[in-house]
Amino acid sequence: MKRATIILTSAVLIAACCGSPKSNLPVYLDTTKPLEERVEDALSRMTMEEKVALTHAQSKFSSHGVPRLGIPELWHTDGPHGIRPEVLWDEWNQAGWTNDSCTAFPALVNLAATWDRELSALYGKSIGEEARYREKDILLGPGINMGRTPLNGRTFEYMGEDPYLAAQLVVPYIKGVQEQGVAACVKHFAVNNQETRRTKTNSNVDDRTLYEIYFPAFKAAVQEGGAWAIMGSYNLWNGQYNCHNKRLLQEILKGEWGFDGVVISDWGGCRDDDEAANNGLDIEMGTWTNGLQGAASNTYDMYHLANPYLERLRDGRAKQEDLDDKARRVLRTIFRTSMGPETHYGSFTSPEHFAASRKIAAEGIVLLKNNGALPLNVDEISRQVRNDNSLPTILLVGENAYKMMVVGGGSSNLKTKYEIIPLDAIREAFEGKADVVWERGYVGDTRTDYNMVVTGQDLSESRSADQLKADAVAAAKEADVVIFIGGLNKSKHQDNEGTDREDIILPYGQDELIEALAEINPNLIVVNISGSPVAMPWADKVNAIVQAWYGGSENGHALADVLTGAVNPSGKLPFTMPKALADGPIKTERQYPGIEVEGLPYWEEYYDEGVFIGYRWYSTQNIPVQYPFGYGLSYTTFELSGASLSKGAVKAGSNVTVNVTVKNTGDKAGAEVVQLYVNDAEASVERPVRELKGFQKVYLQPGEARKLSFTLTPADLSFFDAEAHDWKLEPGDFHILIGNSSENLPIDLLLTVK
Ligand code: BGC
Repeated sequence: MKRATIILTSAVLIAACCGSPKSNLPVYLDTTKPLEERVEDALSRMTMEEKVALTHAQSKFSSHGVPRLGIPELWHTDGPHGIRPEVLWDEWNQAGWTNDSCTAFPALVNLAATWDRELSALYGKSIGEEARYREKDILLGPGINMGRTPLNGRTFEYMGEDPYLAAQLVVPYIKGVQEQGVAACVKHFAVNNQETRRTKTNSNVDDRTLYEIYFPAFKAAVQEGGAWAIMGSYNLWNGQYNCHNKRLLQEILKGEWGFDGVVISDWGGCRDDDEAANNGLDIEMGTWTNGLQGAASNTYDMYHLANPYLERLRDGRAKQEDLDDKARRVLRTIFRTSMGPETHYGSFTSPEHFAASRKIAAEGIVLLKNNGALPLNVDEISRQVRNDNSLPTILLVGENAYKMMVVGGGSSNLKTKYEIIPLDAIREAFEGKADVVWERGYVGDTRTDYNMVVTGQDLSESRSADQLKADAVAAAKEADVVIFIGGLNKSKHQDNEGTDREDIILPYGQDELIEALAEINPNLIVVNISGSPVAMPWADKVNAIVQAWYGGSENGHALADVLTGAVNPSGKLPFTMPKALADGPIKTERQYPGIEVEGLPYWEEYYDEGVFIGYRWYSTQNIPVQYPFGYGLSYTTFELSGASLSKGAVKAGSNVTVNVTVKNTGDKAGAEVVQLYVNDAEASVERPVRELKGFQKVYLQPGEARKLSFTLTPADLSFFDAEAHDWKLEPGDFHILIGNSSENLPIDLLLTVK
């Protein structure tokens, strides 16, 4: 409303002085004119001071517009799972609004586990509409840093360990958001793969690894998604902070990839006057009002891109043309969003948004093991175990059956209109059919508030750890079915911004508890709710395992949908579930979390494992994992057949079509994700034994079959040749592997490149 008024006022003023409003509008206000013409027109009317104002924050989550010209400020918001509640002008603290409780969407790792491009588009559209309604111009997300180590505290905010999967899913998300007139700000560029010392770690990564692993999703975001904004990351690369890293921003992002949008610093990630002015940063945002340090208030003028920048421009240390470039990018962003050609009003907490949230959450839940225990058939259970009319008992054990999880975790913390917990949803689902009871079993995180957002739950506990365990085991002895619902949460050293995890072992003695429950009641189902991989040493002893995520507002319903079979699970792991942390590619401190070097203001970290992260490492090294990347079961079965290549031998440079038929051979409708990996039989560099280069998710009725085709391009077969700074396709044999996980690829087609 505020913004519409500003534009209208300018239009009315102009109409009043100049007659017909349309024909006499200044070009920059005329939304029918081409974007670049509007930008140049606005730029030509601005003073140097006004241009500089565009390049830095004016409050915690907004940056300047040009008030004199009726060009509105830019409002930024986290991101990436919902629209952040309003904070005070200069503070992280909540502003105490009562109309800013949003729809909480599932964590991005949950979206990645759907392997579903359409759902990613739905996610983008829905969150974009929420942003628009709340008058936000820039959504700080999605996050697409790669899962290099399972310990990264922000794994839950990212899209897994594979560049192709993340690239495929980030594109529709961005388009969905931007179609609402909201800029997606893709973060955190680049190689920001840990929270430990995130603001003082220099990532040493070679070019091949960057181009093959850490860049593809960002490049796709820019070139295919058309992202309007990119956030620089806190860390350094090659000794320069990434928010003003010349090679990353100027040469690669804006040069090679042709990015025409705005580069925004992570909050407080800008460190240097000269580099900020010259190396491709467009808007400096801050954690505190004078950069990284705390300050009272309103010191935005002290920002690197505020008064210090003005001084540099005045005495010639910074160039006018660089300022114009920054200003152009900011204006472009404003003319694409709040002053864009389309009128957007958005919508907020609509039934459609909650339905989208539930659907995405459920479709990403991964069934890891099933000895027939799922879907839960209570009629069957009561026939087997009761000879009277009493209802069977379903016992839920574990804190995550009860704990609300939308609140917490760092900048993705949300205030949502409601959050359905698993206990309530499972009770609702089995109403009149089973008694659903809960035992906590262990105490994890009793915190129920974050940044002044409160859940209203009481998680205090007076029982000792031994007592909690004994109570759970005693209840399990009597129960007909036991569902353990535990995992991680969003507290420190779990799935949480600012700290990394310390191991992948489940915390709070959950492994021992699960073992004890399995011993007393063999009918045990384990639901692990987490945003990152956990070890499952008890996997052989339980009846079924479900990997669920932070599912947002509809979390409990989504889980109940899968447990009851209302939704047939079709999620696939977006990362490897290793057996132990030590099995992974990170072996030394210099790899992670980095080493201190005398005389340097930052820690050095070396990506010695190169391109071998996630399944690329495990499969190449032949190291057994608990559950592989791409893995997930269904309540039905699928079969692949009729695989063929359009040509068995091709000249380098031509495309190949791969055909395969997938059939639902079971008796329930369901979806399968058919995955295509490429293996280069012999290469002049060491390559992973398989790399994902295609996938399709198909919903099929029982007995239904569908023929799929994939197009493989030369790029899909190539590796990045750092010396030539180009992709290289070497002639020879390639195996085209097709199946339904990185470790189950029954189809092997030989392709010869001449
Ligand atoms: C985070 C960003 C976030 C920003 C604003 C930073 O600490 O790294 O992801 O968007 O804060 O909240």
